[in-house]
Amino acid sequence: MIATVRPARKLEGSITVPGDKSISHRALILGSVASGESQVRGLSNGADVMSTAACMRALGVNIDGSRVGGVGIDGLRAPGGPLDCGNSGTSMRLLAGLLAGQPFESELVGDESLSRRPMDRVVDPLREMGAEASWPPLRVGGESPLRGFEYEPRVPSAQVKSAILLAGLYAGGTTAVIEPVKTRDHTEVMLSAMGAAVSVEGLRVAVTRPESLQPLDVDVPGDFSSAAFWLAAAGLMDAAEVRLLGVGVNPTRIAFAETLTSLGFAIKRAKPRLEAGEPVADLEVAPAALAGPVHIDGTGAATMIDELPVLAVVATQLVGTSVIAGASELRVKESDRLAAMAQGLSAMGADIEANEDGWIINGPRRLEGARVDSAGDHRIAMALAVAALIADGKTEIEGAECVDISYPGFFDHLEYLA
Ligand code: S3P
Repeated sequence: MIATVRPARKLEGSITVPGDKSISHRALILGSVASGESQVRGLSNGADVMSTAACMRALGVNIDGSRVGGVGIDGLRAPGGPLDCGNSGTSMRLLAGLLAGQPFESELVGDESLSRRPMDRVVDPLREMGAEASWPPLRVGGESPLRGFEYEPRVPSAQVKSAILLAGLYAGGTTAVIEPVKTRDHTEVMLSAMGAAVSVEGLRVAVTRPESLQPLDVDVPGDFSSAAFWLAAAGLMDAAEVRLLGVGVNPTRIAFAETLTSLGFAIKRAKPRLEAGEPVADLEVAPAALAGPVHIDGTGAATMIDELPVLAVVATQLVGTSVIAGASELRVKESDRLAAMAQGLSAMGADIEANEDGWIINGPRRLEGARVDSAGDHRIAMALAVAALIADGKTEIEGAECVDISYPGFFDHLEYLA
C-alpha cells in the first residue's frame, strides 16, 4: 500500500494510541503460565502481539479477547509445529527464554526480516544456563535442567534481559542480569505484580523460580513509542492541541519526551495514575520554540531506541549539527533503520548522513514531499509520515501497511488530527 500524506499546519484532537506492545507481549506470555485466568484489557491490536498470542495458543493456552487462560508454570504443552513469530523480535526472543526451560523442544520461525535478525544474543546465554538451544534455525528446550547464573549482556537489550529472566523462572538457584544501561523494566514489574521474587538493585535484576504466578488483572496503557510520533509532529506544527489519552509513562520509556522537552517542546502530563505498577498519564503537547541541536550518545540511544527514527525527523528542523551516536542496534531492527531514515529524509531534502552507529544531521532544512520507502518497517513508515506532515507538497510512502505491526489505525489518526 502507498500512503499519501499531505502537509499540515495544525494538529488537533484527542486520541488513544494502541496498547503498549512490550507490556502486551509480556502479559500474554506471563498470563499463560499463571495459575488461573488473567484479565488483560487494552492489549495491543498490532500484528506483533497477535503473533505472540498465536504462539501461546499453539502451546495449549486459551486466549479469548481479554481473557488469558493461564495453564500454570508447568502447564504448557509441546506445539504441533514451528511457532511463527512473524515480524516480531520480542516474540522470538522472549519465547526463546520461556521455552528453553520446557521439557519439550520448540522451533521458532519468522518472516524474512526476523530471520535475518541476530538470535545468538539469547541462544549463547541460554546455553550457559544449561539449556538445549541452537540457531539458526532457532530451537530451544528439552530435558536438560537449567541452572541460574549471572549474566552481563554486551548490548543493552530488554529483550535479552527478559529472555534470561523468563528462563530463570525454570532454573535452579538465582538468575541475574546485570545490564550495561537500564532498559525497559516491564518484565520485572509484571513478575513482581504476579508475586514472583524479583530483586532490582541498580542495574542488576534477579529472579528465582516461583512455585506459581498469580493471574493478572490489568488495563494495558497506551504505547509511549506510538505516542512519540504525535509528540514530535505536534511540536513541529505552527499550531497544535493534541491530547494523548492513557499513555504509559514508565520512567524507563520516556527518555524521548525528556529530550524533546530539553529541545523546547511543551509536553504536559494530566491525570497521573498507576496500572499494575506501571505509571500512566494523559499527555498534552503544543508547538515548540525549538532549541538545538541534539546530541545523543550510547546511553541516550539505548533508552529511546524505538524513538530514534522520529528524533531524526525532529533534528532536521533544529538549528546546527545534530549528532545521534551509539545507535548501531538500529542496523539490526526490523530494517536497517540508520540506512532507511537517511535514504527517506535525504529524498525529502534533509541534510542527513548515516555512519556506522548513528546519523549526522544539519538543520534546519525545509523538507519537500517525495516518494519514499518504508523498508517494510513500521517505525520508518510512521517517522516518514511525521516528516511528510511538515514538508511542502505531498509525500508517498511505499509499503505503508507495515504500520499494522504496532499501530493499526495510524493513518486514520493522522487524518483525524490533521
Ligand atoms: C522491546 C525491546 C527493544 C525494542 C522493541 C521492544 C521489548 O528491543 O526495540 O521494540 O519489548 O523488550 P531491544 O531490547 O532488542 O533493544
